Amino acid sequence: MEVTILEAIRKSAEFLEGKGVETPRLQVEMMLERILKQPRLQLYLQFETRLTEIQENDLRTWVIRRGKREPLQHLLGDVSFCGHPIQVNPGVLIPRPESEILAETAWNYLIREFQESFDPLQILDFGTGSGCLAIAIAQNTGNVQVTALDASKKALKTAEQNLILNDLTDRIKLIESHAFDSLNGNSRFDLIVSNPPYIPSHEIPNLEPEVRLHDPISALDGGSDGLDFYRILASGSTKHLTEEGILMMEFGDGQELDIVEILQSENWIVDNILNDYTDRPRIIIAKRMCGSAMIPDSNP
Ligand SMILES: C[S@@+](CC[C@H](N)C(=O)[O-])C[C@H]1O[C@@H](n2cnc3c(N)ncnc32)[C@H](O)[C@@H]1O
Repeated sequence: MEVTILEAIRKSAEFLEGKGVETPRLQVEMMLERILKQPRLQLYLQFETRLTEIQENDLRTWVIRRGKREPLQHLLGDVSFCGHPIQVNPGVLIPRPESEILAETAWNYLIREFQESFDPLQILDFGTGSGCLAIAIAQNTGNVQVTALDASKKALKTAEQNLILNDLTDRIKLIESHAFDSLNGNSRFDLIVSNPPYIPSHEIPNLEPEVRLHDPISALDGGSDGLDFYRILASGSTKHLTEEGILMMEFGDGQELDIVEILQSENWIVDNILNDYTDRPRIIIAKRMCGSAMIPDSNP
């Protein structure tokens, strides 16, 4: 006999807990939300409703896969990033909530500093992955053209699907590029944003299975000390920014002092470091020595 929603939640959550999955009950509820095509809170009003055989089978399949530590986002196939739908698969990094702070800081800066601008602003998203940052920035600012580069063909294919999904193919240009290599030498941007790979190579085997086995290694690996891409961005961004251009980057736990040092050695002024939702330093904002742009001075 088919199980009720409440029984399905309890049994599945217990199974996932045994497999070391965090927030197991929430995860099951999110699966049921998708399977039953109902908002999650609605489930609470229908605990005694029985699942059909098909629904029960669908849930079982997902719970087994999740128990093998496949990320929930890969099962669902998409995430919401700053409220915008982003498709995900093993070819792209699953967008993280803390990267929403980078997107929000970027669009607030653009709105505040350039609201009078007549010409479209030029933004570069370095290492675009799913395209989440480029999409969120473009959706929240009017007069902006984004160039979004990535070295990964798989990532660019997914980013393209996401541009179509969000109706932004005319405002975001995708470029396959290893670092800055394929950019036109004359390209100048008002803002360069990046959430680059920043995990030190030797730490990757210690990450949770969801990350270590299911996010692309090329989206994680920041080299022996995790800082390779900050060196690349600190040296390469200089010739691709306008005179008052700004560089905004996300970074990993405890990397801020090293990154400040890297930036200063390449003649950048660090204007601000913003914290994430857990109050840890996460975003660094820098400008060129000769620049004079105003930088936001507090978390969004
Ligand atoms: C941490 S992920 C960020 C993805 C996305 N921007 C986000 O915030 O979710 C870093 C991205 O950098 C890309 N990447 C890695 N090495 C690169 C390189 N040498 N040149 C350009 N992109 C690179 C990866 O393919 C990956 O998509």
